[in-house]
Amino acid sequence: AGWRLRVHESLSSTSDLLKQLAEAGEPEGLAVLARRQSGGRGRDGRVWESPVGNLYFSLLLRPGGPARDAGKWALLAALVMAEGVAPFTPNPAELRLKWPNDVLLGEAKLAGVLCESAATPAGELDWLIMGIGVNLAAPPALPDRPTASLGAIPPEQVAVSMLFALERLRGLWRVEGFDAVRAAWMARGPALQAPLTLRGGRSGHYAGLAEDGSLLLATEGRVQAVTTGEVAYREA
Ligand code: BTN
Repeated sequence: AGWRLRVHESLSSTSDLLKQLAEAGEPEGLAVLARRQSGGRGRDGRVWESPVGNLYFSLLLRPGGPARDAGKWALLAALVMAEGVAPFTPNPAELRLKWPNDVLLGEAKLAGVLCESAATPAGELDWLIMGIGVNLAAPPALPDRPTASLGAIPPEQVAVSMLFALERLRGLWRVEGFDAVRAAWMARGPALQAPLTLRGGRSGHYAGLAEDGSLLLATEGRVQAVTTGEVAYREA
């Protein structure tokens, strides 16, 4: 697919602009980058500090398929970011994924993605927007955890690298099925049996991902599938 990349000096949020365009019928393949954002949004309603220097990038897909695939796309988005930044990292093996879709460099957060989608009345995905933030020259200080950054790399270079990664990973899903994407995620994910604590306080051990992309948590002899929303886990 040919991607169109639009660069703005400043936007409220690249995802908000793209959402409006999607609702107005914009076809798949538009990517929007902003040098800074005044209303950057993170997951779970958090603010995403967006000063000049980092990557703020949203992509519009119209993938079709069932709306319940949104969770699978969220995992794919994490891989897109990890593979997209890999060429700019001295040691790509240090790039790890935190479920569902944070990218860590060592123990510190390097990138996050907010996936938003809408379904048709028939239950198909109408549009899906990946809103990607990567710390480059201006990593924010987060209250609860360390942040990592890649340094002064032009944001558009990282953006283009991600578009290539996206096309490669979509091809993998199409040709080999989602299991191949799930395996790629798990290869960069937590170590099996790593202790996890969920936001509500429940804890157990990481037991991999289910076929639909939900997180498997082993607690006292049973394994439960955990879907997004509930989670925000801590590897303790
Ligand atoms: C997270 O909470 O980890 C996800 C952060 C996503 C931030 C990106 S920056 C580009 C896009 N526009 C937004 O307002 N948010 C996403």
